Amino acid sequence: MKFYWTIFCALCVPAVGFGDNLPTLYEHYTDGGISSGLETVGVEFKLNGKDITLYGGAIHYFRVHPKYWRDRLRKARAAGLNFVETYIPWNLHEPEEGMFDFGDGNRDMSIFLNVRQFIQLAQEEDLLVIIRPGPYICSEWEFGGLPSWLLASPDIKVRTSDPKFTSRVKSYFDQLIPLLSDLQFILGGSIIAIQVENEYGNFGEQNTPKDKKYLEFVKQSYIENGLIGLFVTCDTPAFVGDTGSLPEVLQTATFNKNPEKQLEALKKLQPDRPLMVMEYWSGWYDHWLDDSHQTGLTLKEFEDNLEVILNYNSSVNIYMLHGGTSFGFMNGADPLSSSPFYQFDATSYDYDAPISEAGDYNEKYAILEKTVAKYNPVKTRLPDKPEESKKFAYPSVNMTEFLNFEDILAKIDANNKVKSSDVMSMELLNINQGSGQSYGYINYQTKINLTKNSSLTIKGHVRDTVMLLLDGVQRTKIITGPSDLTGFGYWVSSDTEFHFDEADAGSHTLDLLVENWGRCNYGYPENFLQQKGLWEGPVSIDSVDVKDWDITAIELKSDWIKRLNGWRSVENSSLETGPFLLKGELEISDEPGDTWINMSQWGKGVVFINGFNIGRYLYLGPPVSLFIPAPILQKGTNKIIVFEQYHPASAVSFSDKPIFVKQ
Ligand SMILES: *[C@@H]1O[C@H](CO)[C@@H](O)[C@H](O)[C@H]1NC(C)=O
Ligand SMILES: *[C@@H]1O[C@H](CO)[C@@H](O)[C@H](O)[C@H]1NC(C)=O
Ligand SMILES: *[C@@H]1O[C@H](CO)[C@@H](O)[C@H](O)[C@H]1NC(C)=O
Ligand SMILES: *[C@@H]1O[C@H](CO)[C@@H](O)[C@H](O)[C@H]1NC(C)=O
Ligand SMILES: *[C@@H]1O[C@H](CO)[C@@H](O)[C@H](O)[C@H]1NC(C)=O
Ligand SMILES: *[C@@H]1O[C@H](CO)[C@@H](O)[C@H](O)[C@H]1NC(C)=O
Repeated sequence: MKFYWTIFCALCVPAVGFGDNLPTLYEHYTDGGISSGLETVGVEFKLNGKDITLYGGAIHYFRVHPKYWRDRLRKARAAGLNFVETYIPWNLHEPEEGMFDFGDGNRDMSIFLNVRQFIQLAQEEDLLVIIRPGPYICSEWEFGGLPSWLLASPDIKVRTSDPKFTSRVKSYFDQLIPLLSDLQFILGGSIIAIQVENEYGNFGEQNTPKDKKYLEFVKQSYIENGLIGLFVTCDTPAFVGDTGSLPEVLQTATFNKNPEKQLEALKKLQPDRPLMVMEYWSGWYDHWLDDSHQTGLTLKEFEDNLEVILNYNSSVNIYMLHGGTSFGFMNGADPLSSSPFYQFDATSYDYDAPISEAGDYNEKYAILEKTVAKYNPVKTRLPDKPEESKKFAYPSVNMTEFLNFEDILAKIDANNKVKSSDVMSMELLNINQGSGQSYGYINYQTKINLTKNSSLTIKGHVRDTVMLLLDGVQRTKIITGPSDLTGFGYWVSSDTEFHFDEADAGSHTLDLLVENWGRCNYGYPENFLQQKGLWEGPVSIDSVDVKDWDITAIELKSDWIKRLNGWRSVENSSLETGPFLLKGELEISDEPGDTWINMSQWGKGVVFINGFNIGRYLYLGPPVSLFIPAPILQKGTNKIIVFEQYHPASAVSFSDKPIFVKQ
């Protein structure tokens, strides 16, 4: 049992008490009734008129299984934090234009989407809440949380006051914001602050004026739907100053290093307002093909910088406190100014955060707990730390059945197939009630005639990778490392060519299977217009444009995966070149537990557990395992389906810890 010095007694004589005798956070801040929310008074924050320094951490409800929300929130509170922060991803909440999903959409990610419940649980766990509804959220998330169907208007200018964009934002916010406004602290809920857009000072060409009309529009849409405040923006102040903010709106900082420099810059911008770091980057994330597993700060840097921040009397949000997982096709990508131009984010969003992807405490957690306790003068009751879950290494599972590429195409519904004279982007396919295809793979099939010396050219860039099959046989090879990226098959070079063999002369069926590997979530305007597939120019053979394509959207949605039938036995079949779907069954006799699927023997693809897409894998890593949270497993038979683009292995194995091919 811990002892605490309490400071709320009548004469302010320090008293000794058990933690259990302390008030809860809500008891402390709502004692005597609620008359005001979070305010800035000089260089201090006040909540309901009482002093508060904000110590919090980011947890994205859309990256954590909802069955684990309470556990992760309690772990946040047990570290001594007083708030939790989350972004809100538009692309999940409005998956097709005009179709909203706040948990009951019966779609792949619907179970993650009851954002109201997450915010209410935070309050039950004695935490305040900061929300960041974007509409752009960066976050290493597909397209920074923007829905891909916006790209069906090819000239749309996202994140600006272009009416084509703002009218869509407005119709989304008119659904979302009223769901949250009654959860504000001043109305008896938990929300104390709302961020306007996200790092807007970093958007657009450097040193050009930002579209403040757009920022004002975002803020007004909040107000019109009942949000009261406190409104904030975030940016890296030493680099972009106040270019991404608005008068009256509190500016906050994002960084991981040089805290003095950033906080001095913020102080200069707002000498009479409290300091807050909206994102103190606790770690970092992996991109596929990175040289090593990324962890960002060392433990010492993490601690030293946190000390500096708190010594400034600054409030802080640890980004991430608990990173979780970018399930499905939800990873984003970073732009680079030189080759290979894009880096695609790995499935795991562990972030080397204080609470790991699987919910475990690490050294950063201990540092955070110790440091916050040292600085926070307001002592309130904290819960006991929840125990870590037990992790399991289940026995290997043989993949016993498969579907080949022809089977896969044949099983896709006719309404996901489009005939077109020319290739086109996935967003322009007239499917999904006009919202196009958002994620997954798109296949372009046609008949071709080849000579003894034919070559195929894709004009422009491939978005993002292409696999070439001739009569159903894979002819391009799996990536062996970053040096392959400039050749045929990848996004890096334009107008790349594929040479056929002499023996290929004659008539064939050609398939070009293109993967959307994740839309960029950050950068300059050109990085925000990212149609996927083949669309920058025609495909030609021996300089003649190829026409008459059968285009198939291979979305690999959960309901389709669950309906698959007509599987073939792998016995006596040679499964040398993909793509394939493979199936195996994992029997679990007790209550299931958390585990990782070990994909190090496989090539590249996606894994489905009981129909749920747990994300992409690539044998080059750095991570080669995927986290499987226990709630998607069940006692009894669990169906494991793997979409492997290249080289299937005969079995999948499981591990009780994450696996990296490079450290
Ligand atoms: C932090 O607050 C304390 C108490 O109000 C004050 O004495 C100190 O100067 C402040 N530190 C900074 C860096 O502003
Ligand atoms: C899996 O396959 C291997 C090799 O074919 C075989 O030895 C093993 O018995 C199989 N395991 C199960 C559980 O069927
Ligand atoms: C391929 O050649 C055959 C036979 O000459 C011809 O009928 C067919 O139209 C050609 N197809 C294409 C796509 O050029
Ligand atoms: C094959 O085609 C290429 C152009 O694609 C040309 O440079 C080369 O000379 C041709 N070779 C033969 C043997 O015709
Ligand atoms: C595989 O081949 C063996 C030997 O020809 C045969 O007995 C067996 O039935 C085959 N299995 C399947 C699933 O076709
Ligand atoms: C993952 O699988 C590979 C290949 O089967 C094996 O060598 C490795 O030991 C496994 N890793 C763990 C942690 O189970």
